[in-house]
Amino acid sequence: MHAVEIIRKKRDGLALERDDVARFVSGATDGSWPDYQLSAMLMATVLRGMTDEETAWLTEAMAQSGARFDLGRLAGRKVDKHSTGGVGDKTSLILAPLAAACGVVVPMMSGRGLGHTGGTLDKLESIPGFRVDLGAREIVDILEDVGCVIVGQTEDIAPADRRLYRLRDVTATVESIPLITASIMSKKLAEGIDALVLDVKVGSGAFMRTLDDAERLARSMVRAGALAGVRTEALLTQMDAPLGRAVGNSIEVVESIQTLRGQGPRDVTELSLLLAARMVLLAGRAASAGDADRRVREALASGAGFERFRRMIERQGGDPEVADEPERLLLAPGREIVRAPRAGYLTGLDALLVGRAAAALGAGRATAEARVDHGVGIRVIATLGALLRAGDPVLELIHRDGNGLADAADLARQAIELGGAPPAPRPLVVGDVV
Ligand code: URA
Repeated sequence: MHAVEIIRKKRDGLALERDDVARFVSGATDGSWPDYQLSAMLMATVLRGMTDEETAWLTEAMAQSGARFDLGRLAGRKVDKHSTGGVGDKTSLILAPLAAACGVVVPMMSGRGLGHTGGTLDKLESIPGFRVDLGAREIVDILEDVGCVIVGQTEDIAPADRRLYRLRDVTATVESIPLITASIMSKKLAEGIDALVLDVKVGSGAFMRTLDDAERLARSMVRAGALAGVRTEALLTQMDAPLGRAVGNSIEVVESIQTLRGQGPRDVTELSLLLAARMVLLAGRAASAGDADRRVREALASGAGFERFRRMIERQGGDPEVADEPERLLLAPGREIVRAPRAGYLTGLDALLVGRAAAALGAGRATAEARVDHGVGIRVIATLGALLRAGDPVLELIHRDGNGLADAADLARQAIELGGAPPAPRPLVVGDVV
């Protein structure tokens, strides 16, 4: 069938055959469908949606559009975690070594930050020498030795997604549950994993603002994983306020190291432990949820997780002494305190606005090609729920030569929410899909 007939079918709301979906994906991969036909198909999909079957076919075809990791040489189940993106979310850096210390093989392929959300690769690259562009052989060697590795997506993984994502970005076709599902899950399936834990963020700083939307996305991804033979579970976690007290790159690595030494903020520690425990259970390294929880807590308390992190840094070319002396990670010298404009309880710190403020300082990027400044960021000083006086410090902006400072300060001020009563306690985990 010709491209135009497949596009017409989707436009008219008819169900696609597996072969139609395969033609669309091969058209994206081999260039036989020009951008305008791919874009028309993407828009028809946004407007008409996809059945579970179509979504699963799309995911599988995109996963097969390029190379797949061959991790067959490694004993044990391979399990990864993927977060849909948030502000201050550094759990990957903590849970990968914790899960590895419990015997899980963690081949983590991560992304870079875009817009107001941070990216794991940018954070790790604040460690001098750290390499995220490893070859397949090196990846397997490090997994054999350390049990975890965190790398970037190679050019040959899911090339169909690479082309489609670029078009989606500029044709208002990102917001579609089947397209997001296929995009995220195809890259994960290509990793050659046995199981996957998803952290689907919900709230102002997340891709999905409402619990309903987050649940729909989580269900769709869990189903696509299951249909491809990868056991997938999702936790839905809050992203109304930043996670932890550090937002940026170097500053988040420092907080991750503190957490691996047992001195991290409670929310970062608990979420990392919870996700790591799910990975341990899915890997068959614990007999029950309680046992998995006990094992990851032990890996944290004994320093075994910290040791894995140190070794991972070393094997990926970074300076391992950063783990012992995180102050080696230099922060930019400029400081500006943002204060409470009046007295009241700190009822919220809008994650989207804090993320945008950090990006304005240079911690994030507005376009995929932009460079980040690893040394800038934001430290959260006040605790949510605290009773503040007018002028009390809430956020510290860490800037370089005042770059982006006026915009960042403006956004940071808007992020502060004050009220006459303490806020209701906010659970970290707001749901799950298993
Ligand atoms: N992240 C991805 O990799 N793909 C999407 O479609 C959305 C977020």
